[in-house]
Amino acid sequence: MVLARATKLHKSYSLGKTKVSVLRGVNLEVNEGEMLAITGSSGCGKSTLLHILGALDAPDQGTVSFAGEDLFAAGTWRRDAVRNRDVGFVFQFYHLLPEFNVLENVLMPRMVGTSTLDWMSSRKSAIAKAGEILGTVGLKDRLKHRPKELSGGERQRVAIARAIMNEPRFLLADEPTGNLDAKMGKGIMDCLRSLNQKGQTIVLVTHDPLIAKQADRQVRLVDGRIEP
Ligand SMILES: Nc1ncnc2c1ncn2[C@@H]1O[C@H](COP(=O)(O)OP(=O)(O)O)[C@@H](O)[C@H]1O
Ligand SMILES: [Mg+2]
Repeated sequence: MVLARATKLHKSYSLGKTKVSVLRGVNLEVNEGEMLAITGSSGCGKSTLLHILGALDAPDQGTVSFAGEDLFAAGTWRRDAVRNRDVGFVFQFYHLLPEFNVLENVLMPRMVGTSTLDWMSSRKSAIAKAGEILGTVGLKDRLKHRPKELSGGERQRVAIARAIMNEPRFLLADEPTGNLDAKMGKGIMDCLRSLNQKGQTIVLVTHDPLIAKQADRQVRLVDGRIEP
């Protein structure tokens, strides 16, 4: 079953007087349960495409359907709701909150959008769940550490734990190993792979062919289109 389908996506950016056409008719299907890698040279539009797939950004033209629903035909509130419920993002530079410990960072998506009263009643189960997820990414002994007390690979595993806290159907990772050495990169890929084996649909963007090779399927973005 197709979970997400991008059809004829176009996106350009204007910088002063020059217009840069980044996506020029991207068609892409992501199947439920697969681990898909999108590759391509630096600056070819991989991040742009990933952001549009996850409704973080809108295309100039074209559609993205998610679980059969046309995301950009839906209203903003609906799109935000789908993104918050169904999409988890992991970025190259982790984007953790430095003042909060590992457990608090992972709890953040649960706390956001929960009233104080609801939070008080669901706090215990949320903490248990965050602890369990942190166990699966190999960080059960780091709950009270701050991000700066962790290695790059550990920080990225916190970011993955945070991204899956709300059990998204769709996990999008933008160069998740881009800032890591080979050994830590392997740890991240192992972590994504084991989530995928439990059924998580993953789209991963990378310029690194060795990383892309580890996915179930690879597609390449060239000249604003997915290579046939
Ligand atoms: N917000 C923006 N404003 C203007 N240009 C942008 C913006 N975001 C990306 N670009 C440009 O679009 C192109 C594709 O960027 P990006 O999607 O980040 O590529 P990749 O992730 O493949 O390296 C690049 O030339 C980049 O400079
Ligand atoms: Mg990028």
